[in-house]
Amino acid sequence: DLYNFRLIRPDTKFYGIIGKPVGHSKSPLLFNAAFKSVGINAVYLHFLVDDVKMFFDTYSTPDFGGTSCTIPHKEAALKCMDEIDPIAKKIGAINNICRRPDGKLTAFNTDYIGAISAIEDGLRELNGVSPGASSPLAGKLLVVLGAGGAGKSLAYGGAQKGARVVVANRTIERAKELADKVGGKAMTLEEIEHFHPEEGMVLANTTSVGMKPHIDATPIPKHALKHYCLVFDAIYTPKDTRLLREARETGAVIVYGTEMLIRQGFEQYKNFTGLPG
Ligand code: ATR
Repeated sequence: DLYNFRLIRPDTKFYGIIGKPVGHSKSPLLFNAAFKSVGINAVYLHFLVDDVKMFFDTYSTPDFGGTSCTIPHKEAALKCMDEIDPIAKKIGAINNICRRPDGKLTAFNTDYIGAISAIEDGLRELNGVSPGASSPLAGKLLVVLGAGGAGKSLAYGGAQKGARVVVANRTIERAKELADKVGGKAMTLEEIEHFHPEEGMVLANTTSVGMKPHIDATPIPKHALKHYCLVFDAIYTPKDTRLLREARETGAVIVYGTEMLIRQGFEQYKNFTGLPG
């Protein structure tokens, strides 16, 4: 019983994920399990949506609590919002929409929070520092591979934490556009192979290179990894990508894509319920 149907009452609040396709999403499994375990009177559904505006116009009643948002609506949904988190606005994509009691729709991008907090905790572990207010990314060189949606999340999120950002992408024009926006530098993936101005850099892969079924591929050769103290891969299928295996062998701290996935979901849960988690 994916949706806990037996627990649904007339006053049950409903949430869901809007997308097309959407049936494969595991989010309902996660959220319904969370709601049930804490005893929250809510259900989280799959919504196959063509027209985002029509969806939000239709579901405008108080029993509607909000949605997660996936492909292809992450950008189109922006236009339907009353309020948008400032960084989500800069990234140009939202994945979490909450309906407030006054009916206003407020949107967030929890992908960047999930990815950046996973990297920050990895760095704190490396430095033996307990979680604190100041970001261990401040002043660090953060190399972001890729300039798509996930690349934007990492580049804007990193810049906001005071990292010096380098964006490297196969298509250099996209790297330049993003680097300009975050006040960083743009490079090609080939240039990154020989880029080692200092030790202790942070690497974040957001390209799809190494994703199932191409598990033998890697976006950057092993020899180029030795100047990085931490390597993050946004890919989570497989969990242990070739990039992460080689980074581990090189001695870097590694941060799995599953960390980003779990953390971004947890942020959505907090936004939906208003609970501290
Ligand atoms: P997402 O939203 O997950 O970031 P995306 O917007 O499709 O997905 O972006 C995919 C990223 O992977 C892009 O940076 C893409 O590079 P291009 O901008 O040059 O297309 C990168 N990418 C995909 N396949 C690649 C490959 N074979 N080699 C190098 N980069 C690749």
